[in-house]
Amino acid sequence: MPTLEERLRSVLPNSAEFELLHLLSPSKETHPLVLQKAPVRTDQHVVKAQHFFALASSRKIFYALEIYVYITLNLASCEKLVFVSKADTNGYCDHAVSIKDVTRALIEYVSSISPEIYLERVIQIPERRKVDINAITQRTTTRRALRILKKRHEKNDECLARSPDDPYCRIVSPSSQWTCKISLFTRSEPQYLFAESSQNTTKHILPGNKLLKWWLSVIDDILVNVFTRNTRARLQIPGEETLITRKHISSLKGADWRVGDIFDGRPNDLAIYTIPLFPDDPKGRFLEQLVDEGRARKVSLSQFWVELQIQQEFRLGDTVSVIGVSGNIRPSLCQSVANGEIIRTDSRKIFNMVKSYITGEEYNNEEGPSDAYTNVTDFLHLRLDSSMVRIKGTKVPNKTSLRHQDSQGKNDFARTSEFQPHTLNVQLV
Ligand code: ACO
Repeated sequence: MPTLEERLRSVLPNSAEFELLHLLSPSKETHPLVLQKAPVRTDQHVVKAQHFFALASSRKIFYALEIYVYITLNLASCEKLVFVSKADTNGYCDHAVSIKDVTRALIEYVSSISPEIYLERVIQIPERRKVDINAITQRTTTRRALRILKKRHEKNDECLARSPDDPYCRIVSPSSQWTCKISLFTRSEPQYLFAESSQNTTKHILPGNKLLKWWLSVIDDILVNVFTRNTRARLQIPGEETLITRKHISSLKGADWRVGDIFDGRPNDLAIYTIPLFPDDPKGRFLEQLVDEGRARKVSLSQFWVELQIQQEFRLGDTVSVIGVSGNIRPSLCQSVANGEIIRTDSRKIFNMVKSYITGEEYNNEEGPSDAYTNVTDFLHLRLDSSMVRIKGTKVPNKTSLRHQDSQGKNDFARTSEFQPHTLNVQLV
């Protein structure tokens, strides 16, 4: 099984050296992603962790990817859901790197990690261990339950626990069957993780329709590379004709691409009991709005997708979509994590601190990526006795990527005619 370093080495250009930050937050007990109908299941345990990746070259951070992993354990089953939250660049890379290949390699790696890795030590939520006014019971109204769930997602209360009756002691062996889902919402924005980076004219921003194509290609490759053949793959473009949505998936390689979603609801089911709530997720915000409007028990799944498109966040004229995959990773490809390829922080506080050295900078000039690099490397060295992983690329650049470089090896994308309309397009919306 290739290590993370080997995976990245093969997609990074042989002309340069890179450094990778891979942070993994401690796992924390959380609540089911989908609001449950009463009576609430008590045999279900959900654990959430966050991966944060950042790539640097020439002592500048230039790419980051944020991924949440949810492990849902029932008595008889285990499901791992990989929610790809945000991918972003800032334009300060001096080499022709295929961000698509890097993103594919990272998501493929995260998808194939065995669930047990996330269950080694779990922070339990205090609510489970004592009576709490914020407990969701059969008498809690849907409106209140949603608010409580939202608050819990935001809260950072921490309490490390490992007792004999800890449900996570039930280790899922790597060979035992578990299902894997990937979910993501595609929407082009001038910047997500690198504030002010849209002001850097060398940043390449894919507009919505191209971003959708880009993500479909990333996910399709992962589907073919690591999932078993019977894996479902779905695309939903809110408000779009089925025929047009179907065109986007007609030439993909995966065997079971269809228009729809992976949330297992029937068209007439209530959306509120079918759509999962992810952090910073427009679908979730619309669900809350339905609750506030007193329509949560009226809007069906099919109606939800139609109405979603009318929402402010979806109305900007740029293509947005929801992509999902649900199936099994090929058993021979399930893997543990190798020594040194992951920095597991003991607390969420430290995790957020390291991450904020990157996401808290401003990237309107080269100081941002350089300061982020210096602050992260200093913190890792001084506080965590650790460092980023050095990676020497091995990929021989093709003609297209060479065309994008000028004689000094500098990224010359900003001066290509293709770049300007993209920037204009996205900044106008
Ligand atoms: N000028 C012209 N073409 C360029 C340039 C450039 N400056 N840079 C890259 N390209 C071309 C590549 O050659 C490639 O073309 P191909 O498809 O013909 O091979 C294509 O653009 C894609 O290049 P990548 O290196 O794969 O990706 P890119 O550098 O565009 O990064 C990303 C993709 C991260 C989405 C970037 O566009 C970005 O930062 N966007 C802003 C934030 C954003 O919207 N993120 C996605 C949110 S959705 C989510 O994360 C779930």
